[in-house]
Amino acid sequence: MAARYFLPIEKCEVGMKTAETIYNEFGAVIVWEDSLLDENVLNKLRRLRIDRIKVFSEEDEVIPESKNEVFRAQYQNNVDMIKDILHDISVGKSVDLHKTEHISNSIFNKINENRDIVGAISSLRDVDDYTYCHSTNVSLLCMLIGKWMRLNMRTIKDLITAGLLHDVGKSKIPEEILHKPGKLTEEEYETMKKHAEFSYKILQEVEGLNPEICKAVLFHHEREDGSGYPFGIKSDKIPFMSKVIAVADMYDAMTANRVFKSKESPFKVFDILQNHSFGVLETSVVNHFLTNIASYYIGDSVRLSDGRTGEIIYINAKNIARPVVKSGETYVDLFFDKKLDIVELII
Ligand SMILES: [Fe+2]
Ligand SMILES: [Fe+2]
Repeated sequence: MAARYFLPIEKCEVGMKTAETIYNEFGAVIVWEDSLLDENVLNKLRRLRIDRIKVFSEEDEVIPESKNEVFRAQYQNNVDMIKDILHDISVGKSVDLHKTEHISNSIFNKINENRDIVGAISSLRDVDDYTYCHSTNVSLLCMLIGKWMRLNMRTIKDLITAGLLHDVGKSKIPEEILHKPGKLTEEEYETMKKHAEFSYKILQEVEGLNPEICKAVLFHHEREDGSGYPFGIKSDKIPFMSKVIAVADMYDAMTANRVFKSKESPFKVFDILQNHSFGVLETSVVNHFLTNIASYYIGDSVRLSDGRTGEIIYINAKNIARPVVKSGETYVDLFFDKKLDIVELII
């Protein structure tokens, strides 16, 4: 598979293939990912003063991704701001829409940087900052899913905000339940479940916030088969945005390191989403998510269940959770070698 590189626009040539969907500043698509560049598109990109784009390329003269540091700093900044927002709520203030919009815009500006986003979600997590990082990650993942599903920009922006704010109600849950190192009792779990309604109530008070965002947040723990909460409503009654948040939320929660549980490898989570989410999560959202996100792990190092380490070199479309891993000179095809698993992503 060809590598993805950033290339200055003046070095892009007719016939190269885009490795990202490129949007203009209003969010309209200029060119979809995986399209061949032609003179027309190149002129458009120049006119819009887009200085570099990601292309699939095997040429030597390329600029490696060097914006990682900037991305990480901005990510941390967003995490700090969401911390402020949640802190404000816990001391009785309301959600600062201005701050929220600032974070949402900063996240939206990253819409062409899929790889940095997936990388950040895998590596920038802090156990203590769980809720803040989780909010930022869910927001980023909602944006990616929106983009991969080719939703309109208005919906993607609403998804970013909804993802960011989906758990604000947790600021009303007692600290000892929220951070309990271990399984919650039934009673504690009932209290924890109230966070969705708390989020809704908090957000309803925010003047200028789209009511669809409030609804999306209220139903983010509802499930297709009616097994979710707070109302146990089924598939056709659940707003689409809630279904997107549900997938992003589950993925991030399962791949996170918590005080009481160690993280699952993304591939284990892909397996759960691929094989055990039918009837629980919306299939089209899960499918778009899985087919797109998996390829960003190509080139990453992993540890196998027999202790060997290796590099992911190929994602099998028939089973995303079981890629081909190169360990030393050996190729391990997990699609056929069912006895082995990926136990850890080595960051
Ligand atoms: Fe939640
Ligand atoms: Fe959540």
